[in-house]
Amino acid sequence: MTDRPLLIAPSILSADFSRLGDEIEAVMEAGGDWVHLDVMDGHFVPNITFGAPIVKAVRNRTKAVFDCHLMIEPTDAYLKDFAEAGADIITVHAEATRHLDRSLQAIRDLGAKAGVALNPATPESEIAYVLDRVDLILLMTVNPGFGGQAFIPAVVDKVARVREMIGDRPIHIEIDGGVTPTTAPMVFGAGADVLVAGSAVFKGGTLAHYASNIDAIRKSCAI
Ligand code: DX5
Ligand code: ZN
Repeated sequence: MTDRPLLIAPSILSADFSRLGDEIEAVMEAGGDWVHLDVMDGHFVPNITFGAPIVKAVRNRTKAVFDCHLMIEPTDAYLKDFAEAGADIITVHAEATRHLDRSLQAIRDLGAKAGVALNPATPESEIAYVLDRVDLILLMTVNPGFGGQAFIPAVVDKVARVREMIGDRPIHIEIDGGVTPTTAPMVFGAGADVLVAGSAVFKGGTLAHYASNIDAIRKSCAI
């Protein structure tokens, strides 16, 4: 368990892209905390989504934290674009940058919060020496690239180990992939405090659905 408040970060990957700005407003009105933006390059992951211009275009639709998850390789050349587009948190994959320490420093130098993501198969030891450079650790509970995949339960142990590693540092542990009211309590109980959810939040397609979907995830963790 964690004594930090639970934050829900709806992933707009599952939104209707033809109405992206409206979808962001709706999901925030429905009770979302952060906006999770999945940037994919068709190289690090087998799918392409959008880049910094789209982030910039929807930035003024909410004051909520813009949580940019970069699934791109290399990373460093694009960090400035995302910071200037209005990303509050920029997360890079440990597997996608050759010099992780440098990438994390660069994000903070740009005035954003720095996040590091680990794929399901990547051990937590990868980040043992950058803990003082990160504000957020994103643990993937699916292989990155697509929404709507099944949660990988082996990662629950990793959540607990990372929670132990970070000690009393003010670092968020964010979970991404296959989060539903069934899986959310497993990772929240193990020490995560930010839950990304795409398909489980956007299913139904209306503000009322988003509100009840978010509520269901929150309630599942409130025990
Ligand atoms: C996957 C993305 C996730 C994705 C999650 O690569 O990083 O953010 O949108 O989608 P769900 O919640 O449907 O698994
Ligand atoms: Zn993501």
